Amino acid sequence: MEEVKPSEAFSKLRPESVVFVISVDKNRRPSGMIAGWFMKCSSSPPMLAVTLSKSGYTHRLIKESKEFVIAVPNKELEKELLYFGETHGDEVDKFKETGIEIEKSKFVKCPLIKNATINFECKLEKEVDTGDHIIFIGRVLTSYMNKNKKVLLNMKKIDEKWIFEEF
Ligand SMILES: Cc1cc2nc3c(=O)[nH]c(=O)nc-3n(C[C@H](O)[C@H](O)[C@H](O)COP(=O)(O)O)c2cc1C
Repeated sequence: MEEVKPSEAFSKLRPESVVFVISVDKNRRPSGMIAGWFMKCSSSPPMLAVTLSKSGYTHRLIKESKEFVIAVPNKELEKELLYFGETHGDEVDKFKETGIEIEKSKFVKCPLIKNATINFECKLEKEVDTGDHIIFIGRVLTSYMNKNKKVLLNMKKIDEKWIFEEF
């Protein structure tokens, strides 16, 4: 077995999920990003965890609003997914620029993504500082599904291009 850098070993851990993580500012303006570092962490009560970089805008919104939506995409949202994953919410209005369709949520101020396969409304339960990232653990208040749609996975990155496939 060959010894490698942790970053190289991390990049071998694919396919991985990709999700939109959405929150809101004080004026209820939504913004969000893409996260591959995402997992279920309790079934009763239902809990989800996302790991967000301290340098991004979305982590600031979640720290302030203490709530977020996790939206699981499919192939038809690939263009929006890349835009949300490659731009910063303190520089552009990602919802306005992409025109992504939203729906009102029930318990949180963040919008749902209408054409996502799954949406989870989450209330921030706990945050864990892990280094250059923070793990946000959210209690799922309710969830929604477009039952006929599939889920997108991040397969790999080739020549700086992400390759996504539906499952
Ligand atoms: C496929 C993919 C997966 C990503 N996974 C994560 C992640 O798990 N955590 C993270 O902090 N950033 C992740 N990013 C990067 C953020 O989505 C990106 O830095 C985004 O521009 C941050 O936006 P914001 O500054 O508006 O929050 C990922 C990007 C892509 C394209």
